[in-house]
Amino acid sequence: MDLNESISDILDSNLLFGRTFYENLFALYPEAKTHFRGVNMHRQAATLTMTLLVIENYRAAERPAMTTYLRELGAQHQERGIPTEMYSPFRRVLLETLAAFHGDRWSDELSLQWSTAVDHTIKEMAKGYQPEREAE
Ligand code: HEM
Repeated sequence: MDLNESISDILDSNLLFGRTFYENLFALYPEAKTHFRGVNMHRQAATLTMTLLVIENYRAAERPAMTTYLRELGAQHQERGIPTEMYSPFRRVLLETLAAFHGDRWSDELSLQWSTAVDHTIKEMAKGYQPEREAE
């Protein structure tokens, strides 16, 4: 199984993956809940699907349009008050939820593919964070 097949199974699960991810995130990191105040649960699960598609396309980060998008996405997250420190918990829960979701189809190779993709995405999004705004 590769990233593409993984995403396809997640999309087939409808919004189950997204719901499970946020349940796990809030159970392990209750402080993350504050960032989702006022966000509709159903939309939230759909947003995670978008998030995964963005991550899966990290290779496109070589392209200027994707780089611009990821920086803008980072700036948007900063405006929402999401600190850079939240990305590591987010990454951890994402990988754990993926591993549990795929069960015996999860492999070291798939784990490496996802973690590489997440790391690239986070690195690009972080470039959209403005140091002066962070200090406010
Ligand atoms: C790899 C890291 C991440 C990616 C690729 C990502 C991606 C996205 C995308 C694509 C959206 C939808 C943006 C839009 O509506 O235009 C979004 C929204 C959002 N993200 Fe992230 N995100 C990441 C990390 C985080 C983290 C660490 C948090 C907080 C714990 C977070 C919280 C949110 C919230 C609260 C929204 C708005 C949801 C809504 O209004 O429905 N994200 N994210």
